[in-house]
Amino acid sequence: MLRLDFNVPMENGQITSNARIKAAIPTIMAAQEQGGRVIVLSHLGRPDPKALKASDSLQPVAEQLAQLTGQQVHFASNWVESLPDIDNGIVVCENVRFHEGETSNSETLSKQIASLCDVYVMDAFGAAHRKHATTYGVITFVQTACAGPLLKSEIGSLSKAMQAPERPLVAIIGGAKVSSKLGVIETLAGICDHIIVGGGIANTFLAAAGIETGNSLIEQNMVEAAKKILESNKASVPLPSDVTVAKELSQESKAVRKSIVDIEMDDQVFDIGPKTAQAYKSIIDSARTIIWNGPLGVFEIDQFSRGTQVLALAVAENNSYTLVGGGDTVAVLEKYGIKDSIDYISSGGGAFLEFIKSGTLLSLEALSSHAKN
Ligand code: 3PG
Ligand code: MG
Repeated sequence: MLRLDFNVPMENGQITSNARIKAAIPTIMAAQEQGGRVIVLSHLGRPDPKALKASDSLQPVAEQLAQLTGQQVHFASNWVESLPDIDNGIVVCENVRFHEGETSNSETLSKQIASLCDVYVMDAFGAAHRKHATTYGVITFVQTACAGPLLKSEIGSLSKAMQAPERPLVAIIGGAKVSSKLGVIETLAGICDHIIVGGGIANTFLAAAGIETGNSLIEQNMVEAAKKILESNKASVPLPSDVTVAKELSQESKAVRKSIVDIEMDDQVFDIGPKTAQAYKSIIDSARTIIWNGPLGVFEIDQFSRGTQVLALAVAENNSYTLVGGGDTVAVLEKYGIKDSIDYISSGGGAFLEFIKSGTLLSLEALSSHAKN
Protein backbone atom coordinates (compact mmCIF):
# COMPACT_ATOMS: atom_id res chain seq x y z
CA MET A 1 0.00 0.00 0.00
CA LEU A 2 1.54 3.23 -1.18
CA ARG A 3 0.47 6.52 0.40
CA LEU A 4 1.28 8.97 -2.38
CA ASP A 5 0.65 12.68 -2.82
CA PHE A 6 -1.65 12.90 -5.83
CA ASN A 7 -3.05 16.22 -4.67
CA VAL A 8 -2.71 17.68 -8.16
CA PRO A 9 -3.99 21.10 -9.28
CA MET A 10 -7.29 20.79 -11.16
CA GLU A 11 -9.35 23.21 -13.21
CA ASN A 12 -12.82 22.29 -14.50
CA GLY A 13 -12.18 18.58 -14.02
CA GLN A 14 -8.82 18.71 -15.85
CA ILE A 15 -5.46 18.09 -14.23
CA THR A 16 -3.33 21.18 -14.88
CA SER A 17 -0.02 19.65 -13.77
CA ASN A 18 0.68 15.92 -13.58
CA ALA A 19 4.13 16.43 -12.03
CA ARG A 20 3.16 14.68 -8.79
CA ILE A 21 1.80 11.67 -10.67
CA LYS A 22 4.94 11.37 -12.80
CA ALA A 23 7.14 11.71 -9.73
CA ALA A 24 5.45 8.73 -8.06
CA ILE A 25 5.80 6.27 -10.95
CA PRO A 26 9.28 5.00 -9.94
CA THR A 27 7.89 4.19 -6.47
CA ILE A 28 5.06 2.16 -8.01
CA MET A 29 7.49 0.36 -10.35
CA ALA A 30 9.88 -0.45 -7.52
CA ALA A 31 7.08 -2.05 -5.51
CA GLN A 32 5.90 -4.06 -8.50
CA GLU A 33 9.41 -5.21 -9.39
CA GLN A 34 9.68 -6.65 -5.91
CA GLY A 35 6.49 -8.63 -6.37
CA GLY A 36 4.08 -6.23 -4.75
CA ARG A 37 0.49 -5.84 -5.80
CA VAL A 38 0.09 -2.10 -5.56
CA ILE A 39 -2.73 -0.24 -3.83
CA VAL A 40 -2.47 3.55 -4.00
CA LEU A 41 -3.90 5.94 -1.42
CA SER A 42 -3.99 9.71 -1.78
CA HIS A 43 -6.02 12.74 -0.85
CA LEU A 44 -7.20 15.38 -3.32
CA GLY A 45 -8.13 18.84 -2.12
CA ARG A 46 -9.95 19.37 1.12
CA PRO A 47 -13.44 17.94 0.53
CA ASP A 48 -16.17 18.03 3.15
CA PRO A 49 -17.12 14.36 3.75
CA LYS A 50 -20.67 15.50 4.56
CA ALA A 51 -21.08 17.31 1.22
CA LEU A 52 -19.06 15.49 -1.40
CA LYS A 53 -19.02 16.76 -4.98
CA ALA A 54 -18.20 14.90 -8.18
CA SER A 55 -15.18 17.18 -8.57
CA ASP A 56 -13.70 15.84 -5.31
CA SER A 57 -13.12 12.41 -6.87
CA LEU A 58 -9.64 11.04 -7.50
CA GLN A 59 -10.91 9.29 -10.66
CA PRO A 60 -9.20 11.70 -13.14
CA VAL A 61 -5.91 10.98 -11.41
CA ALA A 62 -6.46 7.24 -11.81
CA GLU A 63 -7.09 7.75 -15.53
CA GLN A 64 -3.97 9.86 -15.89
CA LEU A 65 -1.93 7.19 -14.09
CA ALA A 66 -3.23 4.55 -16.50
CA GLN A 67 -2.14 6.71 -19.44
CA LEU A 68 1.31 7.44 -18.02
CA THR A 69 2.11 3.84 -17.03
CA GLY A 70 0.25 1.97 -19.76
CA GLN A 71 -1.07 -0.29 -17.00
CA GLN A 72 -4.59 -1.23 -16.12
CA VAL A 73 -5.75 0.94 -13.23
CA HIS A 74 -8.62 -0.36 -11.09
CA PHE A 75 -10.45 2.45 -9.37
CA ALA A 76 -11.81 1.43 -5.97
CA SER A 77 -14.71 3.61 -4.83
CA ASN A 78 -15.61 1.66 -1.69
CA TRP A 79 -12.09 0.58 -0.88
CA VAL A 80 -12.52 0.47 2.90
CA GLU A 81 -15.20 -2.23 2.52
CA SER A 82 -13.64 -4.18 -0.32
CA LEU A 83 -10.70 -4.02 -2.66
CA PRO A 84 -10.72 -5.49 -6.16
CA ASP A 85 -8.79 -8.74 -6.32
CA ILE A 86 -6.27 -8.15 -9.09
CA ASP A 87 -3.46 -10.08 -10.75
CA ASN A 88 -2.00 -7.18 -12.63
CA GLY A 89 -2.27 -3.41 -12.80
CA ILE A 90 -2.65 -0.91 -10.00
CA VAL A 91 -5.49 -0.29 -7.57
CA VAL A 92 -6.18 3.40 -6.96
CA CYS A 93 -8.51 4.09 -4.04
CA GLU A 94 -11.00 6.96 -4.00
CA ASN A 95 -9.89 10.18 -2.28
CA VAL A 96 -9.03 9.21 1.30
CA ARG A 97 -10.56 12.46 2.57
CA PHE A 98 -14.03 11.16 1.63
CA HIS A 99 -13.87 9.44 5.02
CA GLU A 100 -14.39 11.57 8.09
CA GLY A 101 -11.95 9.39 10.01
CA GLU A 102 -9.08 10.41 7.73
CA THR A 103 -8.43 13.93 8.98
CA SER A 104 -9.55 13.05 12.54
CA ASN A 105 -7.00 10.21 12.49
CA SER A 106 -9.66 7.72 13.58
CA GLU A 107 -8.32 4.55 15.15
CA THR A 108 -11.07 2.47 13.54
CA LEU A 109 -10.22 3.70 10.05
CA SER A 110 -6.47 3.36 10.70
CA LYS A 111 -6.96 -0.30 11.70
CA GLN A 112 -9.19 -0.97 8.69
CA ILE A 113 -6.56 0.47 6.35
CA ALA A 114 -3.81 -1.52 8.03
CA SER A 115 -5.80 -4.73 7.53
CA LEU A 116 -5.92 -4.13 3.76
CA CYS A 117 -2.17 -4.56 3.19
CA ASP A 118 0.99 -6.41 4.14
CA VAL A 119 3.40 -3.54 3.58
CA TYR A 120 2.70 0.18 3.96
CA VAL A 121 4.98 2.69 2.23
CA MET A 122 4.74 6.38 3.11
CA ASP A 123 5.85 8.37 0.07
CA ALA A 124 3.64 11.47 0.30
CA PHE A 125 6.15 14.06 1.47
CA GLY A 126 3.65 16.90 0.93
CA ALA A 127 1.26 15.35 3.48
CA ALA A 128 3.85 13.95 5.91
CA HIS A 129 3.19 16.75 8.41
CA ARG A 130 -0.47 15.70 8.71
CA LYS A 131 -1.74 13.59 11.60
CA HIS A 132 -4.25 11.72 9.46
CA ALA A 133 -5.28 8.06 9.31
CA THR A 134 -3.43 7.34 6.04
CA THR A 135 -0.30 9.37 6.89
CA TYR A 136 0.02 8.65 10.60
CA GLY A 137 -2.58 6.46 12.33
CA VAL A 138 -2.21 3.46 10.03
CA ILE A 139 1.52 3.20 10.78
CA THR A 140 0.86 1.98 14.34
CA PHE A 141 -1.22 -0.95 13.11
CA VAL A 142 0.51 -2.25 9.98
CA GLN A 143 2.84 -5.21 10.03
CA THR A 144 5.57 -3.56 7.99
CA ALA A 145 5.96 0.16 7.35
CA CYS A 146 8.66 2.19 5.67
CA ALA A 147 9.45 5.49 3.99
CA GLY A 148 9.36 5.58 0.19
CA PRO A 149 12.07 6.94 -2.13
CA LEU A 150 10.49 10.38 -2.67
CA LEU A 151 10.09 10.98 1.04
CA LYS A 152 13.66 9.85 1.65
CA SER A 153 15.15 12.08 -1.01
CA GLU A 154 13.21 15.14 0.21
CA ILE A 155 14.34 14.60 3.78
CA GLY A 156 17.92 13.93 2.65
CA SER A 157 18.17 17.10 0.56
CA LEU A 158 16.47 19.35 3.09
CA SER A 159 18.55 18.04 6.01
CA LYS A 160 21.74 18.53 4.06
CA ALA A 161 20.87 22.10 3.10
CA MET A 162 19.82 23.05 6.62
CA GLN A 163 22.71 21.40 8.48
CA ALA A 164 25.50 23.81 7.64
CA PRO A 165 24.18 26.39 5.20
CA GLU A 166 26.68 28.72 3.60
CA ARG A 167 26.12 32.29 4.76
CA PRO A 168 24.58 34.77 4.41
CA LEU A 169 21.45 32.64 4.71
CA VAL A 170 18.38 34.50 3.47
CA ALA A 171 14.78 33.35 3.77
CA ILE A 172 12.03 34.80 1.60
CA ILE A 173 8.63 34.19 3.15
CA GLY A 174 5.60 35.45 1.31
CA GLY A 175 1.94 34.57 1.24
CA ALA A 176 -1.23 35.85 2.78
CA LYS A 177 -1.11 34.93 6.42
CA VAL A 178 1.43 35.30 9.21
CA SER A 179 -0.62 32.92 11.36
CA SER A 180 0.10 29.93 9.12
CA LYS A 181 3.84 30.67 9.03
CA LEU A 182 4.57 32.31 12.38
CA GLY A 183 6.35 29.27 13.86
CA VAL A 184 8.61 28.92 10.86
CA ILE A 185 9.39 32.66 10.76
CA GLU A 186 10.37 32.50 14.46
CA THR A 187 12.64 29.51 13.81
CA LEU A 188 14.14 31.12 10.71
CA ALA A 189 14.80 34.31 12.72
CA GLY A 190 17.10 32.20 14.90
CA ILE A 191 19.09 30.71 12.03
CA CYS A 192 18.96 33.18 9.11
CA ASP A 193 20.87 36.37 8.52
CA HIS A 194 17.93 38.08 6.81
CA ILE A 195 14.25 37.32 6.38
CA ILE A 196 12.44 39.03 3.56
CA VAL A 197 8.70 39.02 4.19
CA GLY A 198 6.16 39.69 1.47
CA GLY A 199 2.47 39.53 0.64
CA GLY A 200 -0.08 39.86 3.43
CA ILE A 201 2.64 38.82 5.87
CA ALA A 202 4.58 42.01 5.10
CA ASN A 203 1.48 44.10 5.84
CA THR A 204 1.19 42.62 9.31
CA PHE A 205 4.89 43.35 9.89
CA LEU A 206 4.36 46.95 8.70
CA ALA A 207 1.50 47.27 11.20
CA ALA A 208 3.85 45.90 13.87
CA ALA A 209 6.29 48.69 13.01
CA GLY A 210 3.50 51.23 13.51
CA ILE A 211 2.87 51.91 9.81
CA GLU A 212 -0.72 52.58 8.75
CA THR A 213 -1.56 50.14 5.94
CA GLY A 214 -5.07 51.46 5.16
CA ASN A 215 -7.50 48.80 4.01
CA SER A 216 -4.82 46.12 3.48
CA LEU A 217 -5.08 42.52 4.55
CA ILE A 218 -3.49 42.31 7.97
CA GLU A 219 -3.89 39.91 10.86
CA GLN A 220 -4.51 42.04 13.91
CA ASN A 221 -3.96 39.17 16.33
CA MET A 222 -0.49 38.53 14.88
CA VAL A 223 0.81 42.09 15.23
CA GLU A 224 2.31 41.49 18.70
CA ALA A 225 4.10 38.33 17.54
CA ALA A 226 5.48 40.18 14.51
CA LYS A 227 6.67 43.00 16.80
CA LYS A 228 8.61 40.52 18.93
CA ILE A 229 10.38 39.18 15.84
CA LEU A 230 11.26 42.72 14.70
CA GLU A 231 12.56 43.68 18.13
CA SER A 232 14.60 40.52 18.78
CA ASN A 233 18.24 40.82 17.79
CA LYS A 234 18.14 37.77 15.60
CA ALA A 235 17.79 37.90 11.79
CA SER A 236 17.21 41.29 10.23
CA VAL A 237 13.69 41.65 8.84
CA PRO A 238 13.83 44.59 6.42
CA LEU A 239 10.47 46.23 5.80
CA PRO A 240 9.19 47.87 2.60
CA SER A 241 9.85 51.60 2.18
CA ASP A 242 7.47 51.82 -0.78
CA VAL A 243 4.53 49.75 -1.96
CA THR A 244 2.11 49.28 -4.84
CA VAL A 245 -1.49 49.92 -3.85
CA ALA A 246 -4.96 49.97 -5.39
CA LYS A 247 -8.44 50.69 -4.15
CA GLU A 248 -9.61 47.16 -4.99
CA LEU A 249 -8.22 43.90 -6.29
CA SER A 250 -9.04 43.10 -9.91
CA GLN A 251 -7.40 42.65 -13.29
CA GLU A 252 -8.45 46.22 -14.13
CA SER A 253 -7.56 47.97 -10.90
CA LYS A 254 -5.21 50.92 -11.23
CA ALA A 255 -1.91 50.30 -9.45
CA VAL A 256 -0.28 53.26 -7.70
CA ARG A 257 3.24 53.28 -6.28
CA LYS A 258 3.82 55.24 -3.12
CA SER A 259 5.94 55.57 -0.04
CA ILE A 260 4.64 53.67 2.99
CA VAL A 261 4.00 56.97 4.79
CA ASP A 262 1.54 58.01 2.07
CA ILE A 263 -0.76 54.96 2.27
CA GLU A 264 -4.37 56.20 2.40
CA MET A 265 -7.20 54.76 4.48
CA ASP A 266 -8.87 53.12 1.47
CA ASP A 267 -5.64 51.81 -0.11
CA GLN A 268 -4.79 48.14 -0.19
CA VAL A 269 -1.18 47.02 -0.55
CA PHE A 270 -0.80 44.34 -3.24
CA ASP A 271 2.93 44.45 -3.95
CA ILE A 272 6.18 45.95 -2.77
CA GLY A 273 7.35 49.10 -4.57
CA PRO A 274 10.37 49.44 -6.91
CA LYS A 275 12.75 50.94 -4.29
CA THR A 276 11.97 48.11 -1.91
CA ALA A 277 12.39 45.54 -4.68
CA GLN A 278 15.89 46.93 -5.38
CA ALA A 279 16.80 46.91 -1.68
CA TYR A 280 15.65 43.29 -1.37
CA LYS A 281 17.47 42.39 -4.58
CA SER A 282 20.76 43.53 -3.07
CA ILE A 283 20.18 41.33 -0.02
CA ILE A 284 19.50 38.40 -2.35
CA ASP A 285 22.60 39.23 -4.43
CA SER A 286 24.77 38.87 -1.33
CA ALA A 287 23.19 35.58 -0.18
CA ARG A 288 24.97 32.21 -0.31
CA THR A 289 21.90 30.16 0.63
CA ILE A 290 18.27 31.09 -0.05
CA ILE A 291 15.10 29.44 1.25
CA TRP A 292 11.96 30.62 -0.48
CA ASN A 293 8.28 29.98 0.20
CA GLY A 294 5.41 32.17 -0.92
CA PRO A 295 4.91 34.96 -3.45
CA LEU A 296 5.60 38.60 -2.49
CA GLY A 297 2.57 40.20 -4.04
CA VAL A 298 -0.47 39.33 -6.11
CA PHE A 299 1.78 38.00 -8.89
CA GLU A 300 -1.16 36.58 -10.86
CA ILE A 301 -2.21 40.15 -11.77
CA ASP A 302 0.35 41.97 -13.93
CA GLN A 303 0.30 45.36 -12.27
CA PHE A 304 1.02 43.72 -8.86
CA SER A 305 3.62 41.21 -10.04
CA ARG A 306 6.71 43.44 -10.32
CA GLY A 307 8.07 42.82 -6.82
CA THR A 308 7.75 39.06 -7.14
CA GLN A 309 9.32 39.21 -10.61
CA VAL A 310 12.35 41.30 -9.56
CA LEU A 311 13.06 38.98 -6.64
CA ALA A 312 12.44 35.82 -8.69
CA LEU A 313 14.96 36.96 -11.30
CA ALA A 314 17.46 37.95 -8.61
CA VAL A 315 17.13 34.50 -7.06
CA ALA A 316 17.60 32.87 -10.48
CA GLU A 317 20.73 34.92 -11.30
CA ASN A 318 22.39 34.39 -7.95
CA ASN A 319 24.61 31.33 -7.74
CA SER A 320 23.84 30.62 -4.13
CA TYR A 321 22.22 27.34 -3.11
CA THR A 322 18.49 27.87 -3.50
CA LEU A 323 15.68 25.82 -1.98
CA VAL A 324 12.09 26.49 -2.99
CA GLY A 325 8.92 24.88 -1.65
CA GLY A 326 5.18 25.32 -2.02
CA GLY A 327 2.72 25.18 -4.91
CA ASP A 328 2.31 28.96 -5.30
CA THR A 329 6.04 29.49 -5.29
CA VAL A 330 6.58 26.85 -7.94
CA ALA A 331 3.90 28.63 -10.01
CA VAL A 332 6.05 31.80 -9.72
CA LEU A 333 9.09 29.88 -11.01
CA GLU A 334 7.01 28.56 -13.90
CA LYS A 335 5.62 32.00 -14.74
CA TYR A 336 9.12 33.52 -15.03
CA GLY A 337 10.69 30.42 -16.62
CA ILE A 338 13.37 30.06 -13.95
CA LYS A 339 12.69 26.55 -12.65
CA ASP A 340 16.02 25.30 -14.00
CA SER A 341 18.01 27.86 -12.00
CA ILE A 342 16.76 26.53 -8.67
CA ASP A 343 18.92 23.94 -6.91
CA TYR A 344 16.17 22.18 -5.04
CA ILE A 345 12.41 22.35 -5.50
CA SER A 346 10.49 20.60 -2.77
CA SER A 347 7.19 18.95 -3.65
CA GLY A 348 5.75 20.09 -0.32
CA GLY A 349 4.57 23.46 0.92
CA GLY A 350 3.37 23.01 4.49
CA ALA A 351 5.58 19.94 4.95
CA PHE A 352 8.63 21.86 3.63
CA LEU A 353 8.09 24.65 6.16
CA GLU A 354 7.32 22.23 8.98
CA PHE A 355 10.52 20.27 8.33
CA ILE A 356 12.58 23.47 8.28
CA LYS A 357 10.94 24.53 11.53
CA SER A 358 11.15 21.34 13.55
CA GLY A 359 13.58 19.08 11.69
CA THR A 360 10.98 16.33 11.65
CA LEU A 361 7.46 15.46 10.45
CA LEU A 362 4.65 13.52 12.12
CA SER A 363 4.82 10.65 9.61
CA LEU A 364 8.55 10.31 10.22
CA GLU A 365 7.97 10.16 13.97
CA ALA A 366 5.39 7.42 13.48
CA LEU A 367 7.73 5.48 11.17
CA SER A 368 10.57 5.75 13.71
CA SER A 369 8.40 4.43 16.57
CA HIS A 370 7.23 1.62 14.31
CA ALA A 371 10.84 0.73 13.56
CA LYS A 372 11.76 0.78 17.28
CA ASN A 373 8.86 -1.48 18.16
C1 3PG B 1 -0.15 19.88 -0.55
O1 3PG B 1 -0.60 19.94 -1.70
O2 3PG B 1 0.39 20.85 0.00
C2 3PG B 1 -0.22 18.57 0.14
O3 3PG B 1 -0.76 17.59 -0.66
C3 3PG B 1 -0.95 18.71 1.46
O4 3PG B 1 -2.28 19.09 1.26
P1 3PG B 1 -3.11 19.69 2.50
O5 3PG B 1 -2.47 21.00 2.83
O6 3PG B 1 -4.54 19.81 2.04
O7 3PG B 1 -2.97 18.72 3.65
MG1 MG C 1 -0.91 23.16 0.49
